[in-house]
Amino acid sequence: METVLMKAGEAAYEKAASLLLSGQVVGIPTETVYGLAADARDPEAVGRIFEAKGRPQDNPLIVHIARFDQLGEVAREVPEAALRLGEAFWPGPLTMILRRSELIPDAVTAGLDTVGIRMPSHPAAREIIARSCPLAAPSANTSGKPSPTSATHVYDDMKGRVPLIVDGGRCRVGVESTVVDMTGGTPRVLRPGAITEEMIAAVLGDATTDQATRVGLAEGEKPKSPGMKYRHYAPKAPVILYEGAPDDTFAAVRRDYTPDDGIICFDEYKAQYRALGFRRVWSLGPSWDHAGHSRRVFSVLRHFDATNAGRILAQCPREYGAGEGTVNRLRKSAGFQCVACTEKMYIGVTGMSGAGKSLFCALLAEKRDDVLALDADQVYHELLDDPAGGLTAAILRAFPEADDHGAVDRAVLGRIIFNDGQKRAALNAMTHGAVLEKMKDIAAKSDRHYILLDVPLLFESGFDRACTMTVGLVTGRQSARKRIVARDSITEERASQRLGSQPTAAFYRRRCDLTVENTGSLDDLREAAAAFSAKYMPE
Ligand code: TXA
Ligand code: MG
Repeated sequence: METVLMKAGEAAYEKAASLLLSGQVVGIPTETVYGLAADARDPEAVGRIFEAKGRPQDNPLIVHIARFDQLGEVAREVPEAALRLGEAFWPGPLTMILRRSELIPDAVTAGLDTVGIRMPSHPAAREIIARSCPLAAPSANTSGKPSPTSATHVYDDMKGRVPLIVDGGRCRVGVESTVVDMTGGTPRVLRPGAITEEMIAAVLGDATTDQATRVGLAEGEKPKSPGMKYRHYAPKAPVILYEGAPDDTFAAVRRDYTPDDGIICFDEYKAQYRALGFRRVWSLGPSWDHAGHSRRVFSVLRHFDATNAGRILAQCPREYGAGEGTVNRLRKSAGFQCVACTEKMYIGVTGMSGAGKSLFCALLAEKRDDVLALDADQVYHELLDDPAGGLTAAILRAFPEADDHGAVDRAVLGRIIFNDGQKRAALNAMTHGAVLEKMKDIAAKSDRHYILLDVPLLFESGFDRACTMTVGLVTGRQSARKRIVARDSITEERASQRLGSQPTAAFYRRRCDLTVENTGSLDDLREAAAAFSAKYMPE
């Protein structure tokens, strides 16, 4: 069979629709990964998908629709909660498991009474469905390989097996849709993706994630989703996954590397590996950038198949919030062979000034003897106040004008760096290293497992790279201003100025694994802290 590649557009949509309506299989772009589509109502057409992919017959397919009224065609019952979730996240990277209608044959669901349904947002996918019918489509890779995020990936796997591949560019999301089971009580995430458990819970009040997505199936455990039991996303070379704070996984990979290996790392470490002479080094992006990791992970895994890497050593992103999807795929590609690199849990707490970082830390540490809260500003001042300490000596060497009989005159130091970016950077380089070292030293000597690092400039200082989780406190401008005025006894105007020179809520939402909204009510924050520690800090 000849395989034609066509750019997305009128001609491609028409050609795809007519092939699909005549029972053929077509490679189509979606915002998550490319799919291998066929008429979901036609068992023979669906059979051709399994053939082209080499997919086990007992692994069911997702049905793709383009309009809400098609939901009633493919599902027998649509609970209220499913409608609300659809309204919130469709079109988009979310698949809901619902009871199937008679329209959907056994070939799609592998005989299950339920069916996965998704409304993709990619314009090409929507056009092709609109011009044909509901489409059954798994990811367009050969079974077991990393999913395809470009038309070239699909061509590499499906050349000669399908008549047409529609090229809609690189996939924006990069990992497959979140699969959530809506047939039981609490919505249960069976496969994590860009729509996170937190986002689902924000709409429906509650959601959980199946444990098998994190640790793999237990011996003899029956999978809730057939896809859980197969080896997935595996390049030719075995993957070893290093989990923990980025600085620690960096060091562990450096320790274990041999010249046969390839490396998956973060931007912050790429130059360092290269400088060590390490070869085949690919980056997922900055260590905080979950969306970037998700977009790149499959193409990075695929790159190694074109090299002679013996093993792939990978720095694992943090697994919370939007990181869950990528981490789940990497763990599967490693067959759940993971190396733990950070013993304790280091939670970096940052956020807008006046959003209640320190209060949140205090609430998390309250009544617990396994939590230690460390305030970066306080550690810094303690270091400065120690005339015999290394930091004091270093600062006085660099800024002799601030020498007040062997102690640092903070007011003078403040004036020196206020208008001089270069001097400020030099001071920061000295203090950040010393403060982080001191905090890690205190943490290491403590018997507590959860270490909260209360750091206003978490990312600017690079402390985020020592954390296994980052949390950002955000709040409305107005309530931040009120809190600052009350706390620091300054005018509203000064408080506004200070806020104006700082990152906004959007910065923290993008950078942090998780964000906590401070509504301004202490009761609400107390409740948020209780929910947070129940979920992320088990005793
Ligand atoms: O983003 C996506 O979802 C992509 C694009 C093409 O839309 N599709 C995709 O399909 O990832 P596939 O077949 O590679 O993965 C479908 C997953 C499998 O893990 C399967 O076991 C699960 O969904 N699944 C499908 N139907 C199910 C059902 N009725 N109950 C439980 N799990 C189901
Ligand atoms: Mg797949």
